[in-house]
Amino acid sequence: MKKFLVVYVSRTGKTKKMAEWIAEGLRFAGQEAVLKTLPQVREVADIQGYDGYVLGSPTYHKAMIEGFNSWLFKAQRAGVEGKVGGAFGSHTHSGEAPGILHDTMRHVFKMNMVDLGALTMEERVVDSPEGMPACQQFGRALGERAG
Ligand SMILES: Cc1cc2nc3c(=O)[nH]c(=O)nc-3n(C[C@H](O)[C@H](O)[C@H](O)COP(=O)(O)O)c2cc1C
Repeated sequence: MKKFLVVYVSRTGKTKKMAEWIAEGLRFAGQEAVLKTLPQVREVADIQGYDGYVLGSPTYHKAMIEGFNSWLFKAQRAGVEGKVGGAFGSHTHSGEAPGILHDTMRHVFKMNMVDLGALTMEERVVDSPEGMPACQQFGRALGERAG
């Protein structure tokens, strides 16, 4: 069993729902998923030691939510190179944050990113019956990538 860390921030609960469903999908694939908010993983040591990482941020002002930028400098020092990775987040109209996370994880951290790309979901979809299965499927794909 591989161990995944799902780290997210959510102001109004949409990205939080996505994180919970993605964690379920990881578990359906037979993997362990540890769910944390950004303030719960402040130290490099809190980030180290997982086989995979899934990072989630909603989009505010066409960017990641406050705090994620500086957190990524810590994540870079946590030995994540080559680890399985995925990025996700809720938005209403532009949805830049998951793509920024995905690109940083792939090109800077050199992680093994899920082929589906980032899971960038409009909040109306998060709240629809399609939201839960789509997130679970994304989690499952991540879990299967870890073998
Ligand atoms: C002040 C403010 C700015 C926002 N800026 C954007 C934006 O630039 N692009 C976008 O797609 N959504 C934007 N949104 C919408 C949020 O991304 C959306 O409500 C999202 O589902 C919130 O996720 P959360 O509940 O996980 O915080 C903005 C919302 C607020 C309140």
